[in-house]
Amino acid sequence: MKERKRGRAEKREEVELEISDVGFGGDGVGRVEGRVWFVPFTLPGEKVVARVVTAKKDFVRAELVRVVAAAAERVEPRCEYFGKCGGCSYQHASYDFQLELKKRQVLSLLRRVARVGDGEVTVRDVVPCVPEFGYRNRITVHIQDGVTGFHRPGGKGLVDIKACAIASEEVNRKLAEFRAKRPYDGHRTLRAYAGPSGFRQTNDFMAEKLAETVCGFFDGGGELLVDAYCGGGFFSRRLREKFRRVVGVDWSVAAIAAARENAAENEEYLEADAADGLREVLGAEGGPGGLSVLLDPPAEGLAPEVAEMLAARTCSPLVYVSCNPSTFARDAAKLSARHRLTEIALFDMFAQTAEIELAALFVPRESGA
Ligand SMILES: C[S@@+](CC[C@H](N)C(=O)[O-])C[C@H]1O[C@@H](n2cnc3c(N)ncnc32)[C@H](O)[C@@H]1O
Repeated sequence: MKERKRGRAEKREEVELEISDVGFGGDGVGRVEGRVWFVPFTLPGEKVVARVVTAKKDFVRAELVRVVAAAAERVEPRCEYFGKCGGCSYQHASYDFQLELKKRQVLSLLRRVARVGDGEVTVRDVVPCVPEFGYRNRITVHIQDGVTGFHRPGGKGLVDIKACAIASEEVNRKLAEFRAKRPYDGHRTLRAYAGPSGFRQTNDFMAEKLAETVCGFFDGGGELLVDAYCGGGFFSRRLREKFRRVVGVDWSVAAIAAARENAAENEEYLEADAADGLREVLGAEGGPGGLSVLLDPPAEGLAPEVAEMLAARTCSPLVYVSCNPSTFARDAAKLSARHRLTEIALFDMFAQTAEIELAALFVPRESGA
């Protein structure tokens, strides 16, 4: 390692540092001369040597060169592509520690972004993924210049993948068949199931755990349930008996067609942008009484218009399912004018990766619940 000039970090420079935390997204975080360093594949308490990839005024993105002193939670990664493939972030951490890290990250985002004080909200322990590997019912592979696989970390180029450790046996069988055909450049989603291409949960076992919790949050049932971002009706199908009327909204043609196929008499599905659909159902003036709302948006979270519309109404209850705690925390702050966040359940839908799924329960403030 060469002598460093204080306060500078040059491209490809190697520095020894201590990792103090792992942030949402999976990178280890350390400090060197007041500047934050992000180093993937590291764990809190570890001493590592890292090499600068990009250096900005306030932070440095670096790559791991070697671990000098390993954390007790470090384990041998199971997959030969780990570190070279951009899919998994945590195979180097024991599974129990992955769960602990994910809960810590959610608590930290709630404090910093949603301004939730300690003890104000019940945050349950993460429901573990069973099994910890081989759970994905679909993968999307990319094909370029004879290479079939996944993007490298940071999205630069592809790593050739013969089998994916977090995909199910059936998906890996389809991958082997697909590779044998010497495919053309492009993308291909390989599924363990037949059926429509609209959104479908990727981890069947964990999706059922999530659905049980969501149904429990709507225990009392009610007059009208609006299921915004309803996909093929995964949740509304399970909730329709509790409500007099259920309306699902999704902009995917395939998802709405699938939802309508299985609909009961009290279920309607609107193929629309979430904001337009909500405006239509709730009406311009105040909206219907006895309103319960379920939100399951994509990773970007709620469109500002959707958040504003719901923040101005009283939903009893409002349940928010999120695959991105960062956008959830932003939206929770907006919804909190009339709603109180009381409980969050966490699900390790994608073990070995940096992803976290959550279901949150908001109740009207004036109910004092
Ligand atoms: C995370 S998925 C949830 C699907 C469903 N709740 C489930 O569990 O199967 C998000 C869904 O939101 C839909 N979506 C994304 N942006 C949307 C928008 N602006 N308006 C309406 N639907 C949208 C997608 O088509 C997708 O079905």
